[in-house]
Amino acid sequence: MSKETFAFPPELIERLARARSVAVLTGAGISAESGVPTFRDPGGLWERFRPEELANVQAFLRNPDLVQRWYAYRRKLVREVEPNPGHYALVELERMVPDFTLITQNVDNLHRRAGSRRVVELHGNLLRSYCIDCGRPADEVDLEAAAEGKPARCPACGGLIRPDVVWFGEMLPEEALAEAYAACERAEVFLSVGTSAVVYPAAGLPLEAKRAGAYVAEINLQPSAIADEMDALLLGKAGEILPALVEAVRQARDAG
Ligand code: OAD
Repeated sequence: MSKETFAFPPELIERLARARSVAVLTGAGISAESGVPTFRDPGGLWERFRPEELANVQAFLRNPDLVQRWYAYRRKLVREVEPNPGHYALVELERMVPDFTLITQNVDNLHRRAGSRRVVELHGNLLRSYCIDCGRPADEVDLEAAAEGKPARCPACGGLIRPDVVWFGEMLPEEALAEAYAACERAEVFLSVGTSAVVYPAAGLPLEAKRAGAYVAEINLQPSAIADEMDALLLGKAGEILPALVEAVRQARDAG
């Protein structure tokens, strides 16, 4: 088993260069270099805000205005930043591999904005909202229509509008999870990028892929909770490692 820091294990490059099926799982770390705070790093969102006050349905029903304002702040933040070289490297990798699935825990929409096509959003998307009563999708106009100090409500039925993200205690979207597991089954190589791998079921996906025969590699600033299970561990910034990795794979393909 190879454990390297930034020098790419030859086996990883060889396998990626000939793989017909690749799956990637990303977490907040891939967006860190774009300026989106992660959750559990020093200064991360869960150090400054309390998940139990903001990211569950009871908290929302107790104080919808506060929760809506927190998500409005996060929407503004992600709109003001740009995808980084890590996001773009995954767009490149998708072009090289016939069957490529990008599974993300991120809700910031940066993979789509970078140009990734096959994106499975396990935890939803910050930029979508819907009415908790009638399910109608809400748009920015609905959200902005709320009067000062009053929560935004559905123009059709008056129900509260919530972000289309998965909160603590909620199930993941069934279709997205099924797609993610299917991609793990097929993958010859699985990359886990910028995730602490503590939130399940997402954190279980690299090991699902490994069980099904994939070569699994982690790219992270700090080793994740499941780093010991990896075939390769690449420690450093995703925005630096991923472009170099994709370039090494391109060279191996051109040579071979
Ligand atoms: P975390 O904040 O738990 O972990 C971020 C990971 O990224 C850590 O392992 C860091 O070492 C790593 N990291 C930071 N900067 C990096 C960089 N520039 N390059 C590479 N790695 C870097 O975020 P997630 O694992 O995504 O769930 O958190 C999982 C889930 O917990 C989130 O989707 C969210 C949260 O509660 C929901 O909202 C449902």
